[in-house]
Amino acid sequence: MPVTIRTLNKRKQDGEKFSMLTAYDATFARLISEAGVDAILIGDSLGNVVQGRDSTVPVTLEQMVYHTECVARGNQNSLVLADVPFLGAATLDRILEASGALMQAGANMVKLEGGAWLAEAVTVLKRNGVPACVHLGLTPQAVNAFGGYRVQGKDEQGARELLEAAVALERAGAAMLLLECVPRDLSAEISAAVNIPVTGIGAAPECDGQVLVMHDMLGLNASPARFVKDFMAEAGGDIAAAFRAYDRAVKDGLFPAEQHCF
Ligand code: KIV
Repeated sequence: MPVTIRTLNKRKQDGEKFSMLTAYDATFARLISEAGVDAILIGDSLGNVVQGRDSTVPVTLEQMVYHTECVARGNQNSLVLADVPFLGAATLDRILEASGALMQAGANMVKLEGGAWLAEAVTVLKRNGVPACVHLGLTPQAVNAFGGYRVQGKDEQGARELLEAAVALERAGAAMLLLECVPRDLSAEISAAVNIPVTGIGAAPECDGQVLVMHDMLGLNASPARFVKDFMAEAGGDIAAAFRAYDRAVKDGLFPAEQHCF
């Protein structure tokens, strides 16, 4: 049975976790989907792990469309999300153009980095049949504005803004939220405050689902972030087994553990 947004909504209602990994090509998309991972994200992290750049800023819509087409061909049953790249969310026109191209390339949902200011866009997308996931907290496209990759929502005002943004975006019609590098307690509070699924990375086990960059969880990153677990270490070089171990650990509530949170 294909995983849809309804599947993930039901998981949240039933208190069951869902798993997500990034992929950028057909072969890995097939292996990830066959391992039972619920969702595949064509992340603009492809700028880092595929193109060897030091940020996601140079990634273009054309490149995102190409990789989305590749993943959609290999995917079996997972829900496919694709990132709107840098400045793709700068205006409503650009959001519609990028989202249309990504959905026509095979995505089931688009992901936009930003905050409460995306509420209008989320409403327009929903009205036009495009489910949107809003990425909050550490949004890597804004690395130059943040002055580095830093945990967000650590002070009272930052925490309040994130919580308010989550509630406003749900009200506007967002299908999903993704929290990156947000303190555990705040991530848990946000996940409990909204009825839509919340995916975490460097967030909390209390989030409804978890995502990791595939290359990180396969142990291919020489200096992984604190929130990464290397699932290949115990999989004896078997990539499919590493994907299955990740899926199981997320669904059993064993990943992330305390040491992966802030
Ligand atoms: O681009 C990406 O891979 C992402 C994940 C880090 C969530 O946005």
